Amino acid sequence: MTDIDHKHAANDDAHEHGSEVATKVGHSPVADIPHKPRVTDTDPKAARRAERQVAGMFTLSMIFVIAFVVAYVAIDKGTYVYIPVLGDVGASNVVLGFTFGAAVFLIGAGAIQWAKKLMPDVEVVQQRHDMTSDKSDEEAAAANYERGKEESGFARYKIIRRSLLGAMALFPIPIIVVLRDLWITPPGENPVEILSTTPWEDGVMIIPDVGDQTGLSPETSRGIRPEDLPVGGLVSALPVDIGVIQEEEHNLNARGKAAIILVRMEPSEIRSQQGEGWDYNGIVAFSKICTHVGCPIALYEQRTHHLLCPCHQSTFDLADSGDVVFGPAARRMPQLPIGVNAEGYLVAKAPFAEPVGPSFWERDRT
Ligand code: FES
Repeated sequence: MTDIDHKHAANDDAHEHGSEVATKVGHSPVADIPHKPRVTDTDPKAARRAERQVAGMFTLSMIFVIAFVVAYVAIDKGTYVYIPVLGDVGASNVVLGFTFGAAVFLIGAGAIQWAKKLMPDVEVVQQRHDMTSDKSDEEAAAANYERGKEESGFARYKIIRRSLLGAMALFPIPIIVVLRDLWITPPGENPVEILSTTPWEDGVMIIPDVGDQTGLSPETSRGIRPEDLPVGGLVSALPVDIGVIQEEEHNLNARGKAAIILVRMEPSEIRSQQGEGWDYNGIVAFSKICTHVGCPIALYEQRTHHLLCPCHQSTFDLADSGDVVFGPAARRMPQLPIGVNAEGYLVAKAPFAEPVGPSFWERDRT
């Protein structure tokens, strides 16, 4: 029996399911619209061509998954490519995104082509009935499953079946490969060192974080004067040259690591600091990145001087060295020593004394 004979047999078989399933090959069961057979129903060559197309898509999907793994290993994370509108973006991200996207797309496209061109082209009406299944329903469901398996050609189209199984088997690989980044440190990189290095150093002016700082130069940025910040106020801030660093050095993490908050309280309310005289007239500066798993924080309770992380409710006391008073964070918020420059703008007096950001990196090093 040829594939086409088989499809006709499947259509005829569907006719025999009486009151529950009424199938009409000659015309639509909904409206009297003549049924138009597909070219793959009448032309064996077209059917074979469609089979090859579908198998080709599944095979191509496998090739893209392999390309994903190769790109993940081979492309240096520091390589950038220019893409109009987006600007400079990591080459690795572009290739990984494209190959994974193509692999997923090809599986979907292959499945759609298979259904559209090769599976039986019949219209089926099923009458609604009670939701509970009795024995005969279960038997009917099992029979339907068997018939569906037969009609879909899963058993018959060996090359499609094998290529689909291959594509589905390789499909999870990209997810497993990128999960590796969660526990393997990139060679030659030390996370503690990376998190300890920020643009902050003696004399770097503090500017308000007013959105996109890309392209801002020290000359065009406006600093913050102590009198700009009232007692009880909070300002999110960045180093003055953050735009230049991001633009010229492709240091996309610089902004996240350098983000700070400035909070002003009465000097007499400060009970302790991480260093002698690290405030300026009651203005204290802390990293904005939670030491638990790195959420940005700016929820400040003026009366208690508590800083609350919205992610898992870690709470830090900014009047007491940024110590943890509640929640899962295991480390205090790093404090930045600040003062003013000759023009009266707030500046850093030194780099952070400890790594910013999540502290789980340090666990197996202490
Ligand atoms: S990230 Fe802040 S408490 Fe979890």
